[in-house]
Amino acid sequence: MELENQYSGWVGRRPIQIVSGKGALVYDAEGKEYIDCIGGNGVAITGHSHPKIVQAIKNQAEKLIVCPTILYNEVRGQLYKRLAEVTPPGLTKSFLGNSGAEAVEAALKLARRHTGKIEIIAMKNGFHGRTMGALSVTWNPKYRKPFQPLIPGISHVPFGNVEAVTNAITKQTAAVIVEPIQGEAGVIIPSNTYLKELREICNAHDVLLIFDEVQTGWGRTGKLFAGHGHWDVIPDIMTLSKAIAGGIPMGAMIAKNEIFDSLKTGEHFSTFGGNPLSCAAALASIDVIQNEKLVEKSAENGAYLLEQLRSHLKGKKTIREIRGKGLFIAIEMKFKVVPILKRAISEGVLLLTSGLNTIRMLPPLVISRKQIDQVVNVLEKIIE
Ligand SMILES: Cc1ncc(COP(=O)(O)O)c(C=O)c1O
Repeated sequence: MELENQYSGWVGRRPIQIVSGKGALVYDAEGKEYIDCIGGNGVAITGHSHPKIVQAIKNQAEKLIVCPTILYNEVRGQLYKRLAEVTPPGLTKSFLGNSGAEAVEAALKLARRHTGKIEIIAMKNGFHGRTMGALSVTWNPKYRKPFQPLIPGISHVPFGNVEAVTNAITKQTAAVIVEPIQGEAGVIIPSNTYLKELREICNAHDVLLIFDEVQTGWGRTGKLFAGHGHWDVIPDIMTLSKAIAGGIPMGAMIAKNEIFDSLKTGEHFSTFGGNPLSCAAALASIDVIQNEKLVEKSAENGAYLLEQLRSHLKGKKTIREIRGKGLFIAIEMKFKVVPILKRAISEGVLLLTSGLNTIRMLPPLVISRKQIDQVVNVLEKIIE
């Protein structure tokens, strides 16, 4: 801990040092066990150190780690194909980078290049990352203000309000970017018609629709991808990251053929993007998600967690709302939640926040009912 504090910074760290993990559990240096509802900020969907993913990484590392995309590689080819198969119909060609923000950068560049227009409409309270382009579409003034001027042509409209999008569209609008369910904002679920109506407006005005599924993708919400799975809407471009490669850094931007092909050779590239190690991990991770029915588990266990929280915390006056979809859950309180987080650590549960007043839970989708009950009991005890 001292080393991280002395030689790095900027992060609001919890005062524990994690040394290992298995499934939905992590362990600190003293061997104390925690149920991990941080889940690597939503990355650890398949659980920590899943044996099949570990094996795939080992096998690939022994064979080939480095191979930039200027050279062909069989594993990468298989992953491009797999991504085209598992994502919503029509999304076929992908770019591989190393993080969510990079996937968003690629999406923004592609939208400008394809349409020849420069403006992007993003959502209030939306989050898309902290690099300059991604930050420009991110809403929170706390993240944005110190770094202005950001890229021009961005407007933010209220999430869930279709009319506001229509009013914000100009002749220069290239795309609308939206998280199907807002994550950082505190698991904000739109109305059942919202994304469909957004799709219609974008079609009518020749504007591209970008779904940022960095946080909602890979089963987190009880569907493989939230926008298509819950509301049957297909975007023109989709961004993915977090769980995509079982914990190995990867971000992907996938688009319709004719859109993807608008970028020309050399206009976008990443040295590490598409390296065989992360591609092998991604293929293994997708296998695990499908073979172990993690999407179905997310839906069932998420509904169970939500129901347990609602019944155990019923009537607590300090709670504003408990909401969620799949294992993507938020408890909005009427006060700052940091003291709850600290108490939870001592009780063996790791929790995330959204803003100051909301507890967010992004547990691995392999979390068991028994572990869910333990989390609920700890929260009930603390909130009492
Ligand atoms: C919806 C969304 N987009 C983009 C990002 C940025 O991802 P990264 O931190 O990997 O750059 C995040 C991160 O939480 C996110 O939730």
